[in-house]
Amino acid sequence: MHLSGSLSSWTAYLGLLSALSATFAPAVAVKEHDFKKCHQSGFCARNRAFADHALAASSWESPYNILADAGSFKDGQYQGVVLKTINDAGETVRLPITISFLESGTARVTVDEEKRQKGEIELRHNSKARKERYNEAENWVIVGGLALDKAAKVEQEDKTQLTVKYGPSSKFEAVIKFSPFSIDFKRDGQSHIKFNEQGLLNVEHWRPKVDKPAEPEKEDDAADSGNEDENNEGKEDKETKEEPKKEDESTWWEESFGGNTDTKPRGPESVALDISFIGYEHVFGIPSHAGPLSLKQTRGGDGNYQEPYRMYNADVFEYILDSPMTLYGSIPFMQAHRKDSSVGVFWLNAAETWVDITKGKDAKNPMALGVKSKTSTHTHWMSESGLLDVFVFLGPTPKDLTAKFTELTGTTAMPQEFAIGYHQCRWNYISEDDVKEVDRKMDKFKMPYDVIWLDIEYSDDKKYFAWDKHSFPNPLDMHKQLDSRGRKIVTINDPHIKNVDNYPVVQELKSKGFGVLNKDGNIFEGWCWPGSSHWLDAFNPAAREWWASLFNYDKFKGTMENTFIWNDMNEPSVFNGPETTMPKDNLHHGNWEHRDVHNLNGMTFHNATYHALLSRKPGELRRPFVLTRSFFAGSQRAAAMWTGDNQADWGHLAASIPMVLSQGISGFPFSGADVGGFFGNPDKDLLTRWYQVGAFNPFFRAHAHIDARRREPYLHGEPYTTIISAALRLRYSLLPSWYTAFRHAHLDGSPIIKPMFYTHPSEEAGFALDDQFFVGTTGLLAKPVVEKDKTSVDIWIPDGEAYYDYFTYDVIPTAKGKTVTLDAPLEKIPLLMRGGHIFARRDIPRRSSALMKWDDYTLVVAASKDAKTPAEGDLYVDDGDSFDFQQGQYIHRRFVFDAAAKTLSSVDYEGRDSEAVKEGEWMKKMRSVGVDKVIIVGAPASWAGKKTVTVESEGKTWEAKMEFTPAEKGRAAFAVVRKLGVRIGADWKVVF
Ligand code: GLC
Repeated sequence: MHLSGSLSSWTAYLGLLSALSATFAPAVAVKEHDFKKCHQSGFCARNRAFADHALAASSWESPYNILADAGSFKDGQYQGVVLKTINDAGETVRLPITISFLESGTARVTVDEEKRQKGEIELRHNSKARKERYNEAENWVIVGGLALDKAAKVEQEDKTQLTVKYGPSSKFEAVIKFSPFSIDFKRDGQSHIKFNEQGLLNVEHWRPKVDKPAEPEKEDDAADSGNEDENNEGKEDKETKEEPKKEDESTWWEESFGGNTDTKPRGPESVALDISFIGYEHVFGIPSHAGPLSLKQTRGGDGNYQEPYRMYNADVFEYILDSPMTLYGSIPFMQAHRKDSSVGVFWLNAAETWVDITKGKDAKNPMALGVKSKTSTHTHWMSESGLLDVFVFLGPTPKDLTAKFTELTGTTAMPQEFAIGYHQCRWNYISEDDVKEVDRKMDKFKMPYDVIWLDIEYSDDKKYFAWDKHSFPNPLDMHKQLDSRGRKIVTINDPHIKNVDNYPVVQELKSKGFGVLNKDGNIFEGWCWPGSSHWLDAFNPAAREWWASLFNYDKFKGTMENTFIWNDMNEPSVFNGPETTMPKDNLHHGNWEHRDVHNLNGMTFHNATYHALLSRKPGELRRPFVLTRSFFAGSQRAAAMWTGDNQADWGHLAASIPMVLSQGISGFPFSGADVGGFFGNPDKDLLTRWYQVGAFNPFFRAHAHIDARRREPYLHGEPYTTIISAALRLRYSLLPSWYTAFRHAHLDGSPIIKPMFYTHPSEEAGFALDDQFFVGTTGLLAKPVVEKDKTSVDIWIPDGEAYYDYFTYDVIPTAKGKTVTLDAPLEKIPLLMRGGHIFARRDIPRRSSALMKWDDYTLVVAASKDAKTPAEGDLYVDDGDSFDFQQGQYIHRRFVFDAAAKTLSSVDYEGRDSEAVKEGEWMKKMRSVGVDKVIIVGAPASWAGKKTVTVESEGKTWEAKMEFTPAEKGRAAFAVVRKLGVRIGADWKVVF
């Protein structure tokens, strides 16, 4: 967000803001210091101080013990009680614990608090909030994979510990120590993940507030004292063993920041745990942060961060780079990686969460099995409220990790095919004429695109669902005009509902009680784009149903089948709220405090919109397309995301690649950054390079702030227009391969663009690389230029395969582990083809993806260096729009080029019997779609002089023409077979 635009509404809005500036920091001033640092967030400060104390003490012992006699193990699940000793007198608090071993080989540890569970606590301030720790996150997040592993068995049990063997072939093991409580997760007898190894487990139990004589007022906010503890007292206490030193209570019952006070009716209630990855030097994940893919240490030191990684979804405009600061969405899933092994954890908690990361030789436990001299990564997870609920994945491959994580949280929805084309957006296309003009110009300059976007100004004074009648008098005509070339419109619909009298949507929201409530139980009112607003409470099923009804074509007039939806500001962004969001003591459906559900909020909203798009018209069964800014684990099932309000500078361009890679390995690969940069005006080189990067983002959209100069891709003159067109066309010709990558993401949670550690988990030199990536299973290795005036790139080659330049077929002179320098003048995207792969393209340039639907395919074979290694690839196609693919209405082919046997063949990817599926309309039409061309790069020299090949398919044999071009000056030999005459959906074979 950001304002000060030229439109009159901005002026009016700014006026309102300044009138209100006495009571809150206006959105125009959001800066880093408007967001909390750990020492300003009470529970973070307390837990860090606790950690400092524990780690400094010579013999710290965690005060948490499993009550040996209270536990039982049955059907893959241990249920017991952890006792927390809370004082010298030995008083304890009971914390029920469940450890579940799941069929998938994933383990889950859940810790609750008995008193809160039973409601035996008192809330302050007559709060109507629920008393329990929030226990519904799994209802929103988990969609499968919870079946218990009945075969998990207790291997050993006594008064001190319990050992459970579980997982595939019982190769996983959990050693649960009772006193103090810890768990050691092992694979093949070796420790990989340890809970509470450092003794930082902390469950802040309920206690009544004891009023003490008032302390003298401190300056600024009280939580600062957490930091003082950290700096001073922790150190002095070095020699103490015993119980935690006197806690800082100043933020237990109330907390203020930026002029907002959180009343904290349940008092302190954080949960925290240290999780150690034994022998692992790299950890990845926990997006979204603008920093490197391999996460940094957070406790200071050279090149490290001072602050923990934070996850508290927020509208952080003009975000800073290389920072652990929170951004718009969170996925608390982390994977640790070392040579040939990946393991990970998923911290299922939707409250404000911080994660400290330190790395070091295993000082506390130098005898750790087999990894004595290796670096381990220690993480310290801290959440403000809710259950302690952690899933443990023991790998061993990065692919296992994403597969198991998405088994729980769901995989990427199969997208609308258009959604992976190019999206043209800006804040704002200001009128129907403007939209039509852009549409016409894109055609004129032969630049393909699929979607034009309408930001908030399309609406009648920010009353979503109503069009601005002056600028958009005939929205249906506009939609129809775009539809004639298969194009779509995306309109923005935000969760804040303008609070004015003459707006039926807000009247209904109020009368039906579908708004989020404030701490007193009245509808919450705050400020956002429309000025005074209320917020849809998408946690409420009835509210979601009502929200869905608003999108019916006869309700949201002016929309039709080619309208899709953008959900923004759903963190939620509240301009006058604490940290630009909602007060934590607000109440949602079921009287859960906002504190408990904050990070889920965005997901509930885009889920509601997803379901709305499914029910716009009875009988219409089409895949929705929703773009969301805020997200949580599970968002991938319903939406695409973008990285929010970036800037038109080279740093932000570079940062976009690790950010998108991080999304991909965290189960939510349908992601991209605003091409061009949202704020500011990119120069032509930057914009051009950004298109070259954007063409390799799974979600490819250009966007610009209202104050930014117009920058549609045709505006920049030569050579820019030609170069940008080439990037767009490259994207469009490769759409079949992108779509196939989405299919894999949909099937098993695979990333769409893949970092080196993911594709080459044995190659240590690649683990920290986050500026080059492979696309799906194509073998295409991209390293876009992200630096000013740079005309070459150094690309690291992860293996000994052949690598060819995508555009010239030059053989890259290299070897495994080497870095090669490639020329990359402005017009060039450094893009290599790895030998041993086959990928599909559609080469006829068209104006939109819809117009390419029935085009024939080109297959590109990049031959392996070794003639004995076949090249392989696949192509997935469906109607790109309906759910018929769930009934088998799709084509998925596996291609194999066997140089030794001199054949290229196509068979069903899953070995399906082609007769078994009754062909629907789309499948029938696909009978006319074939393979137009096969290009074999790295073709054997022995093919010289060959003019024809034999083609066999559907019981017939015929000949097709082949042209062979011998190798020359560093360029590989290649052969082109034209007009194969085979159907894409049929089995066929070419014999060379
Ligand atoms: C937010 C979005 C941005 C959008 C603007 C106006 O800042 O992040 O993309 O253009 O709001 O809706």
